Amino acid sequence: MPDHVDYASQPTSPRLTESAARVATLRAEAAADIEGFWKREAMSRIAWVKPPTRIKNTSFEGDVSIKWFEDGTLNASVSCLDRHLETRGDQTAIIWEGDEPGSQDSVTYRDLHTRVCKFANALKGLGVRKGDRVTIYMPMVIEAAVAMLASARIGAIHSVVFGGFSPHSLAGRIQDCKSSVVITSDEARRGGKRVPLKANTDEALKTCPDVTAVVVVAVTGATVPMVAGRDHDYATLVADASADCPPEEMGAEDPLFILYTSGSTGTPKGVQHTTGGYMVWASFTHELVFDYRPGEIFWCTADVGWVTGHTYIVYGPLANGATTLMFEGVPTYPDSGRLWEVVDKHKVEIFYTAPTAIRALMRDGDEPVKRSSRTSLRVLGTVGEPINPEAWEWYYSVVGDSRCPIVDTWWQTETGGHLISPVPGMNPLKPGSATLPLPGVKPLIVDSNGTPLEGEADGHLCIADSWPGQMRTVFGDHDRFIKTYFSTYKGLYFTGDGARRDADGYYWITGRVDDVINVSGHRMGTAEVESALGSHHHVAESAVVGYPHDVKGQGIYAYVTLKHGVEATEALLKELAGWVRKEIGPIAVPDVIQWAPGLPKTRSGKIMRRILRKIAANEVDSLGDTSTLADPAVVDDLVSNRKK
Ligand code: WTA
Repeated sequence: MPDHVDYASQPTSPRLTESAARVATLRAEAAADIEGFWKREAMSRIAWVKPPTRIKNTSFEGDVSIKWFEDGTLNASVSCLDRHLETRGDQTAIIWEGDEPGSQDSVTYRDLHTRVCKFANALKGLGVRKGDRVTIYMPMVIEAAVAMLASARIGAIHSVVFGGFSPHSLAGRIQDCKSSVVITSDEARRGGKRVPLKANTDEALKTCPDVTAVVVVAVTGATVPMVAGRDHDYATLVADASADCPPEEMGAEDPLFILYTSGSTGTPKGVQHTTGGYMVWASFTHELVFDYRPGEIFWCTADVGWVTGHTYIVYGPLANGATTLMFEGVPTYPDSGRLWEVVDKHKVEIFYTAPTAIRALMRDGDEPVKRSSRTSLRVLGTVGEPINPEAWEWYYSVVGDSRCPIVDTWWQTETGGHLISPVPGMNPLKPGSATLPLPGVKPLIVDSNGTPLEGEADGHLCIADSWPGQMRTVFGDHDRFIKTYFSTYKGLYFTGDGARRDADGYYWITGRVDDVINVSGHRMGTAEVESALGSHHHVAESAVVGYPHDVKGQGIYAYVTLKHGVEATEALLKELAGWVRKEIGPIAVPDVIQWAPGLPKTRSGKIMRRILRKIAANEVDSLGDTSTLADPAVVDDLVSNRKK
């Protein structure tokens, strides 16, 4: 793929050149003295109650133990709120842009602090204590950030569940971390439609007997049934709450949040992040990678239900005293000019989105972009999947008017924040390459035996040593943490991604090498979709793979074998799609379902996914060796009945 791409020189300025040079200096400093480096960054970025003296205590071997700043104490909400009150109490902390054009709101640091303290006290009143888990299932409204910060203030661990997930998925995530409280809203608005979050919560809670309280934020004003003794109206709770809530003193290694993410096997994992290291990483990367300067308006279009929303809508920007924009809607509502209208309206300086959004908007041409001036824009960013050169070029020249540097940020839920990314002003850029590791990050490309490769290389991407923002464990299952990330290549963190390093040392992420797929920037385990399909009473077996999709990056292709005697009808196809929607959510619905009388298996019964991927991608001329299959004839059937 990216071999043919030419170097691109980003626009620069003395100011940007200076910032880029500073990052190069930081990289050298981190390489020379990792502990001294992080001590300094931790002290300057975060408000500590007790400053840390032990900086790094990490091992990727054996039981895998990762500790940063372990004797320090702090509260994340103080770094995001209290310490800004004196200097920027009246500055806008969050600008909220509603789904409907014209609906907007904002909150200053002072107001946000008050709201967080009141809600924190309300949560205490509901019995929430340090270490308890609080599930947040909310639309993109300011109260979502309030709920996160209020949990952090009292030492509760939040678990935000994306509002697009089904009741079934929500229930699984509540049960796994044993949340006692759920914070939700009556409904969510998205692209002119309504999503019944409270009704979904009620449905989920039928299987979550340990939930004792539900807090409901009135977002659309819809009438929703309230269960007496369990359900509480948010406005009533906070109206009665005191605005004085001393922050809980947390150890740096105490968990700040859990966020569920898909892996190649099993149910989603609760990725656990801690207070000290995560906050340092969020602040560090938000400032460096976006070249954030005080007073600027920063807009990340992600949902708070994903890690990008955690780190780059809430914690990073607020730690840095930024004004962060929160958008309730979607890029195409009411039309595909919406994002750029919002940029003009709020004079956004830094804009961060996913390649899938860029590709979707690109299809509608330049006109919806050109309706806006976008003169406020200074830096553009992307995240979630490799960006194809065409999309990069369009983003650069049409959206950014060839004025704004683009940062292609590679990272994962597990990494807490960016690990490999250009910084504004760095030259040259190469469209499609995430370029170089950030200061203190040690990527390694290994071959299939785990041997590190030097120089130009193509293989699996690992990280050789810890960084402060790294996840610490899988909630409640440390063995799974070790097995998933540290057992493939001993002593290394394995990312699950493939990568190439070119002659200039630039990294090119080539995509997942495991059974995780990236659909419209949403991470999905094929095993989860298979498990949903398999729970339908007509399905005998299924296999799900990703295939290249023009807009989504990857689409979901499902091969389904029906039980004996069940007729393969159009109606059943629709029913299965609806089934997956109900089991997981709309983001998991297969783009293609192909009936498979049989699946290609080895003689020991293992499904040969390599072959299924090739068929889905229409690369049927390069299926490779099929002689080891138990029944090679199934492949011919699948090829001839392949769905376009
Ligand atoms: C992919 C999202 C190429 C990658 C922050 C990774 C990327 C997965 C990039 C994590 C990028 C993310 N270039 N691929 N700039 N950013 N990815 O956990 O496959 O939702 O492993 O975190 O997205 O997805 P997750």
